[in-house]
Amino acid sequence: MTDELFNVENKICIVTGGLGQIGKNFVQELNKRGAKVAVWGRTVNNERIAKTLGEQALTDANLRFYSVDITNKERMNEVLDDMEAAWGAAPDVLVNNAGIDTQPSAPPEVSGPFENFPEEVFREVVNVNLVGTFLACQAVGARMVKSGKGGSIINVGSIYGMVSPIQDIYAYKKERTGIPFIKPVAYSAAKSGIYNLTRYLATYWGKEGIRVNTLTPAGVWRDTQDETFIANFTARMPMGRMSQENEYNGALIFLASKASSFMTGSNLIIDGGWTAW
Ligand SMILES: NC(=O)c1ccc[n+]([C@@H]2O[C@H](COP(=O)([O-])OP(=O)(O)OC[C@H]3O[C@@H](n4cnc5c(N)ncnc54)[C@H](O)[C@@H]3O)[C@@H](O)[C@H]2O)c1
Repeated sequence: MTDELFNVENKICIVTGGLGQIGKNFVQELNKRGAKVAVWGRTVNNERIAKTLGEQALTDANLRFYSVDITNKERMNEVLDDMEAAWGAAPDVLVNNAGIDTQPSAPPEVSGPFENFPEEVFREVVNVNLVGTFLACQAVGARMVKSGKGGSIINVGSIYGMVSPIQDIYAYKKERTGIPFIKPVAYSAAKSGIYNLTRYLATYWGKEGIRVNTLTPAGVWRDTQDETFIANFTARMPMGRMSQENEYNGALIFLASKASSFMTGSNLIIDGGWTAW
């Protein structure tokens, strides 16, 4: 039986950063459910596509792959023209998932104390995570408005855009190496902007049938993470573990489909309880 409520079949979707850890799960889930998915990424080539999504992805007519830097609106418009020529309609769903962050393995120049945090790094992170999301909303939203069929825009936020990082989680780095790791301000500041960009656009496009919501993930487990980091992070997490990379798929399908038809300007928090205390 087709589940009409959560149906995304034939919807034209864009997932930015769709070859990244969370993004590839979004692409696979939408693809499995019969959506047409355009993957926009900074580093897109056949080798990476095959490695991330499997060889069959290269010949799947419901998947298209584009090299797109989300800070380049002109490129986004070229790609949108190409998608429309191939699939015959404007996008229904935009998932603004691409983003950059500073991992605990980062060098001290970009992870040191706030007082000396480099302005150029702050600008770069804001440029990708916030300005890039703004530009993608502009480019894709304009097509949605023109098509008259509405759409759903899903902006990916972060617990660190809602609340401040807990610096104690990262203190082990200094104890171990003598060099402090301070979870940087840039990511938090950029991600926090996503929440009101979402609310702004939800009201701005409300009557056009374009819904705009934020999906907020928490820390995802990776096999490259330091054990002490995982222990410190999960000690603070009410559910006592990090998330698996596919645990945001349910929220994504909900936001992309009719199941969330009266939801806009909102924030769907999938964080194992992180922001509950
Ligand atoms: N992983 C987590 O623990 C976590 C927690 C909260 C929020 N998030 C958010 O979830 C989203 C996905 O994160 P992830 O962990 O999968 O990260 P990731 O690094 O695995 O994937 C991000 C992808 O975005 C792409 N990208 C970066 N800059 C780009 C640009 N300018 N143009 C186009 N593509 C670009 C990268 O190439 C990469 O493929 C991000 O917005 C991130 O901030 C992640």
